[in-house]
Amino acid sequence: MEQMKKVPITFYIRRFDPVTDEEPRIQKYVLQVEKGMTVLDCIHVIKEEQDPSLAFRFSCRMGVCGSCAMLINGKPTLACNTQTLDLTDSVLTVGALPNFNIIRDLVPDLVPMFGVHQRVQPYIIRKDTQEMEKPSGEYFQSPHQLEEFLQFTYCIKCGVCMAACPTMATDRQYPGPMALTQAYRYNTDSRDDGGGERKDLVAKSHGVFGCHYAGECSNACPKGVDPARAIQLLKRDLVRDYLHLGKDHACAKTHPLPPNAERKPKIEAPPFTAGT
Ligand code: FES
Repeated sequence: MEQMKKVPITFYIRRFDPVTDEEPRIQKYVLQVEKGMTVLDCIHVIKEEQDPSLAFRFSCRMGVCGSCAMLINGKPTLACNTQTLDLTDSVLTVGALPNFNIIRDLVPDLVPMFGVHQRVQPYIIRKDTQEMEKPSGEYFQSPHQLEEFLQFTYCIKCGVCMAACPTMATDRQYPGPMALTQAYRYNTDSRDDGGGERKDLVAKSHGVFGCHYAGECSNACPKGVDPARAIQLLKRDLVRDYLHLGKDHACAKTHPLPPNAERKPKIEAPPFTAGT
């Protein structure tokens, strides 16, 4: 069998331990890389064969969990979904995601991001609490109503959009594209009635109007989600609300299902877009 050709790639990896280091430093590693090796694979080999002290985060290795997001050649993306030899035949730079504090080396502190995510209440909120506790039927949703927010449900909370966002880089109080997109996703869900409760975070002085519509979040998203669009639509909804023009959907009511009701056909997911 023909031997796979190996290419020597020089990795410049940004190292930092906030406990012992005053400044980040760049460490050089040279690795023989063959076709098919992702950046995450390469970092694993470096750790196993050259430097066990290198810290990074990963889990699924298939672009699903969002754990391995890092800055690769200056671009925030998923390391497990990036083919090394597609990017370079000589040199690669790797660092932790910007706009986050660093726990160590390539591991960003995502706790503030998840804290803001929690504050937008990323779940269906309704006034009919009795019905929520003891459902008497289903909340019908048309395919069109589903399409209104479906793409925003593909967010894997990897933090790539937050690292790409120029507003995040200058305003740490800005909630960021991930949380704002999830606010829009639930506000737009025809079953939800919680827009008013999310307004505090979305409409505050460092809120949604801090976005200058650079669009970097949408360019960077490895799952093809368009946070920049969600944020502009959130702005539109706030203006509509300010002018008392009301919501563009009424909150869905419960419909008891007849015993042999025909279920709606399953809606197919769009094609996987990461790494394209
Ligand atoms: S390891 Fe899960 S997305 Fe990369």
